[in-house]
Amino acid sequence: MSEPVVLGIETSCDETGVGIVKGTELLAHAVASSVEEHVRFGGVVPEVASRAHLEAMVPTLEQAYTESGVRIQDVDAIAVTCGPGLTGALLVGVAAAKALALAHDKPLYGLNHLVSHVAVDQLEHGRFDRPVAALLVSGGHTEILLVEDIASDVTMLGSTIDDAAGEAFDKVARLLGLPYPGGPHVDRVAADGDPTAIAFPRGLMAAKDAERYRYDFSFSGLKSAVSRHVQRERAAGRELAVADVAASFQDAVVDVLTRKTVQACRDHGVDTLVVGGGVAANGRLREFVRERAGAAGIDVRIPRPDLCTDNGAMVAALGAEVVRRGERPSSLDLPVDSSLPVTAVVA
Ligand code: KG4
Ligand code: ZN
Repeated sequence: MSEPVVLGIETSCDETGVGIVKGTELLAHAVASSVEEHVRFGGVVPEVASRAHLEAMVPTLEQAYTESGVRIQDVDAIAVTCGPGLTGALLVGVAAAKALALAHDKPLYGLNHLVSHVAVDQLEHGRFDRPVAALLVSGGHTEILLVEDIASDVTMLGSTIDDAAGEAFDKVARLLGLPYPGGPHVDRVAADGDPTAIAFPRGLMAAKDAERYRYDFSFSGLKSAVSRHVQRERAAGRELAVADVAASFQDAVVDVLTRKTVQACRDHGVDTLVVGGGVAANGRLREFVRERAGAAGIDVRIPRPDLCTDNGAMVAALGAEVVRRGERPSSLDLPVDSSLPVTAVVA
């Protein structure tokens, strides 16, 4: 079969994304974000996100058609994120995808959001030709995955046992008086700070955790340590060294993420690492991953930042692989699953 043209829809959180690909070639990448509507609440409000998806869906679809010059009639399949994510938000994308599939007689594929974050790298760096490991770091997920085959064989090696990495960035930003979403602000402020100024804890890195929690993360203790530090400084009447706190916190997160991921690659004999999700935009993480994975002889693939954050092209990218393999389409009564496990690539 020649490379399939796939339209992908993403609505699991606060981005309405529609992407169109032909195999690993990106043809359209339209994204509308409702992040501005959540800023005053300091986090995503599910009901607000669902309503924003409803309003943005048709304009975003039209933008993708215009960008690519592809008409819905020319598409081989419709792919949509059906989990994990916010239930009400997922329902909007899945309903739209079903309507398109039914009206235009196209096969429908309900796909896993987490696996799509990994698949998107193929649009930039070409098709995976061997098993890869993936570090997925976003506002909602922090996972190390082993990807034997992107369309059919994905396992989770480890994940966070409390906060996601992006969530930790957002909470610490709040403690430091920085706006939501905090990750980019912490990244920027930390550039002027000393990452060795404060010895913040590294979660699940103790010798006793090397077995049970070998590839797992914990960031809630780190967040509490930052909170205690801020309170102590205030109580002592000292001015908070925001840049030093940001830099020391950021290094604590990035240090653990990279050490455990390189360890996972080594243990599984994998020589390619893909990094994805919003936190993959972090400058210090990109630097640490390149340095440490590079030193271990691991090839590092990190998509450009606007493909790391949630978008429809990533769903289309995974859809194209699934269609190429001849996988069976999903049924038209496809449900959403807010906690879809990563092993379920196609629902
Ligand atoms: O993947 P994403 O766009 O949405 C989710 O699926 O959650 O990730 C958003 C997260 C937010 O927590 C945000 O603060 C974080 O990614 N983030 C960053 C940076 N840019 C975005 N964290 C650290 N450094 C950054 N430069
Ligand atoms: Zn995501």
